Amino acid sequence: MELSRLIYLIGLPGSGKSSVGKILSSSIEYDFIDLDEWIEKNEKSSIKEIFAVKGESYFRDLETRALQMLSEKINSGTIISTGGGTPCYNDNLKILKNTGLLIYLKADVDVLVKRIENNIIEKDNRPLFNTADIESKYKALIKDRRLFYEDAHLIVDTGGLNEKEIAELIL
Ligand code: S3P
Repeated sequence: MELSRLIYLIGLPGSGKSSVGKILSSSIEYDFIDLDEWIEKNEKSSIKEIFAVKGESYFRDLETRALQMLSEKINSGTIISTGGGTPCYNDNLKILKNTGLLIYLKADVDVLVKRIENNIIEKDNRPLFNTADIESKYKALIKDRRLFYEDAHLIVDTGGLNEKEIAELIL
């Protein structure tokens, strides 16, 4: 594995993957790709619309194809922020681990719930959070996904840190 080739950020929705990825990529002069934005551009449709019209399993296949394509094509320094579910479906975890350095941004559920309630995390384009009980949703997600996330090469505890501080910690 060439560690310098690709860096992937994984973690629950709202854990800061995209904002940390942007800060980190400009610090180390890497390119930055947000996997969800890349899919949206390619499909000419928002994540919300894809879920609503085609369903979640269609989205999961799109996500895997996008990951396969990008991980094969990119051969210069790039940071990719993944979607919250990316490492947990199909063979994605294997692809991620075999093609780059996998960094898990670990965040406590109560912190994430507060961020979503205070509108720091955008809820609108996150179909999984189309529910009144955000806390239960987060708890269910972390229960299902913890083992996938914790298989990362590096686990970063983001508790109490802002995005800039998280990027500095990773560096
Ligand atoms: C998802 C997270 C989203 C997006 C999609 C599904 C998930 O990305 O990929 O809504 O399964 O956790 P973010 O983690 O950027 O919200």
